[in-house]
Amino acid sequence: MIDLSVRYLGLELRNPLIASASPLTRSIDNLRELERHGIGAVVLPSLFEEQIEHEEMAIEDLHWYGRESSAEALDYRPPLPSSSGSSQQYLDLIWEAKNALKVPVIASLNGTSVGGWLKYAQAMADAGADAIELNVYLVPTDFTITGAEIESRIVDLVLAVRGSISIPLSVKVGASFSSVANMMFRLVSAGADGLVLFNRFLQPDIDLENLKVDPKVTLSNSDEIRLPLRWIGILRREITASLAATSGVHSVDDAVKLLLVGADAVMMTSALLKHGPAHVAKVRRDLEDWLVDHEYESVAQMRGSMCQAHYGDPLAFERANYMNALVSYQGPHV
Ligand SMILES: Cc1cc2nc3c(=O)[nH]c(=O)nc-3n(C[C@H](O)[C@H](O)[C@H](O)COP(=O)(O)O)c2cc1C
Repeated sequence: MIDLSVRYLGLELRNPLIASASPLTRSIDNLRELERHGIGAVVLPSLFEEQIEHEEMAIEDLHWYGRESSAEALDYRPPLPSSSGSSQQYLDLIWEAKNALKVPVIASLNGTSVGGWLKYAQAMADAGADAIELNVYLVPTDFTITGAEIESRIVDLVLAVRGSISIPLSVKVGASFSSVANMMFRLVSAGADGLVLFNRFLQPDIDLENLKVDPKVTLSNSDEIRLPLRWIGILRREITASLAATSGVHSVDDAVKLLLVGADAVMMTSALLKHGPAHVAKVRRDLEDWLVDHEYESVAQMRGSMCQAHYGDPLAFERANYMNALVSYQGPHV
């Protein structure tokens, strides 16, 4: 009997496959299907800083509406919108997901700045979330702000969320830092129990027919695992916090490669949007077969065996590999 179980953010998962945040994880029916097909844990779609702030501004407007128009109005306070807002719907989703599933349910908060919206981290914990994934989806475009300032801002955000909850916290970020290894180390030092690597940033396209900028959502492919693969392989050497890979995980080969370099868990969105929740059962079965064929008894036994610290040629993860690969390129015209 092959043991697929892993520990992620201190939680026991029956296997390392996690459904990452997407519209698929918004419906209880889909979550049930994912669990039935063997998922190890689920991440709910994000509640966004913008959603919360928009809602709070609307509530504030209601408070002040009519107050200054007459003396009586000063005592009139219109009823607040009750459970109709997106933040309340989100807390309901956590509660329903927890009641429907046995596997861990991770809630996701998505934003970039320290502010009142962060109180929802505690509300998510109160609603029953097993952990919180903080997604810092940041595209710094201000010409006057330095990389160091951006990094401090992200670290402050992690410190603020860490300080407000006692359940496990993971941080999902992009890879665009001058010193990725140092930044990841700082996030863990600020209190992240795990890192989700890496955000897949949507790039705008141009719609040539209508001459409009089109923020097109495209699904990933397996080539995209190579960015998290390199960095998880390198980070595993020093970072003992949980590491989850996101971007490009479609097949068992993708999952195994990431586990070999040291990922504790691998996340899937595009593959599940493309093939549906039943795809989990295939990848899970294929993972079991791969371990049997390669004479492993458990995921724990193979996990990290090819990280930079254990691999015979550590430079393979670094720049030297780049030069060799370019110089030895062969193709039809070379
Ligand atoms: C349609 C769609 C919606 C997504 N929504 C969220 C979200 O709400 N929060 C989040 O952190 N990531 C979100 N993601 C990103 C995914 O969780 C995942 O990190 C990304 O798609 C890369 O993984 P993949 O290659 O398996 O698709 C979304 C992705 C897609 C395609």
